[in-house]
Amino acid sequence: MNFELQEEHRLLVDMVRNFADKELVPAAAELDIQERFPEENLKKMAELGLMAMTVPEEYGGSGMDNVSFALAMMEVGRACASTAVTMSVTNMVAEGIYRFGTEEQKRKYIPPIASGEYAAASFALTEPWAGSDAGAIKTTAVRDGDYYVINGEKIFITSGAYAGVMMVAVVTDKSKGKHGISVLLVEQGTPGLTIGKAEEKMGQRGSNTVSLVFEDCRVPAENLLGQEGDGFKIMLADLDGGRIGIGSMACGVMRACLEESIKYSKGRVQFGRPISQFQAIQWMIADMATDLEAAENMVLRAAWLKDQGVRFTKAASMAKLFATEAANRAAYKAVQIHGGYGYTREFPVERFYRDIRVTTLYEGTSEIQRIVIARNILGRL
Ligand code: CAA
Repeated sequence: MNFELQEEHRLLVDMVRNFADKELVPAAAELDIQERFPEENLKKMAELGLMAMTVPEEYGGSGMDNVSFALAMMEVGRACASTAVTMSVTNMVAEGIYRFGTEEQKRKYIPPIASGEYAAASFALTEPWAGSDAGAIKTTAVRDGDYYVINGEKIFITSGAYAGVMMVAVVTDKSKGKHGISVLLVEQGTPGLTIGKAEEKMGQRGSNTVSLVFEDCRVPAENLLGQEGDGFKIMLADLDGGRIGIGSMACGVMRACLEESIKYSKGRVQFGRPISQFQAIQWMIADMATDLEAAENMVLRAAWLKDQGVRFTKAASMAKLFATEAANRAAYKAVQIHGGYGYTREFPVERFYRDIRVTTLYEGTSEIQRIVIARNILGRL
């Protein structure tokens, strides 16, 4: 067993960290306050090869492994969670198209994602009545000659207003339940697709979260991703990889919480000495660092398993569950260490605290991760 990163991984971490410190960290607070989509960040990240990282180069991707993706997500998460979630979902869609798409779909849709021609890509599963119970979606797609006609509504869609292409889960055969779900690739601007108002969120306010309304939206039949009826499995399989991305982002936010807490506690003097000299503060920092190390190892192991081509569903859910819950604990402690200042916008931990909250909700709540983990241990009871 070897816990050392390979040379290529170390170089990637250096490159992304330098970029993130220079470009992402300075902009993060303003993106949050103004609720501004990080378009310029994403363009630069596409130039660095961060938007379709695990897709082979022949389709415009970077041909990197999943460990690289996790490491890059950690660095971007440490700098700006709004940018990180956009990156994670875009990579998930690029990979979904690569894994399940036809040759034509891969050649048409992955290069513009990878190059930054598309600002982002979206994964449209959730509906007002189908969140955790994703198999209960109602949006329909009815075949009409060479087209599918989509009607329905999606909510909480990350990057929906900016995505060049979206993976949209639809019901093509109501009589078959989850086996009647399919996935269509829908381009931005397709007539019949309306982008709803952006959600006003607690955190990750620079990321774009919208509803999508489909009213007789006609999509070419050739945009079916995989086979009719395979859509639920395609979305869940793709989400397994997405959960590694969100777990990695949580590690990044946790690292930022730890770094800010170390800095602040060494500089803040109370009772005649830096508060880092008090055991109460030391224990919080020790717990944060321990959680971070465990989370990073879990996330990297899940990514490594994925690279080995073996089942990683349980490992990805465990990593996402542990990392996002631990990052919430870390953000709580970071604010606690900063005292009243931590509750103000003067210090970034206020934003970390809000940004991290959603990570135990999206891409499967912590409760859903426990269901996935338990089913992988006990089988379906
Ligand atoms: N990979 C491939 N196939 C899978 C799978 C996986 N990880 N998990 C399950 N399946 C298959 C099953 O084998 C089963 O196949 P068969 O019927 O042929 O046997 C089929 O899918 C249905 O599985 P279940 O009966 O277990 O499905 P379920 O209805 O009980 O749901 C669930 C399982 C795990 C609870 C699932 O609904 C789930 O993950 N829910 C959470 C949804 C979610 O994560 N939403 C996130 C939205 S996207 C987002 O947040 C992105 C963003 O923008 C930030």
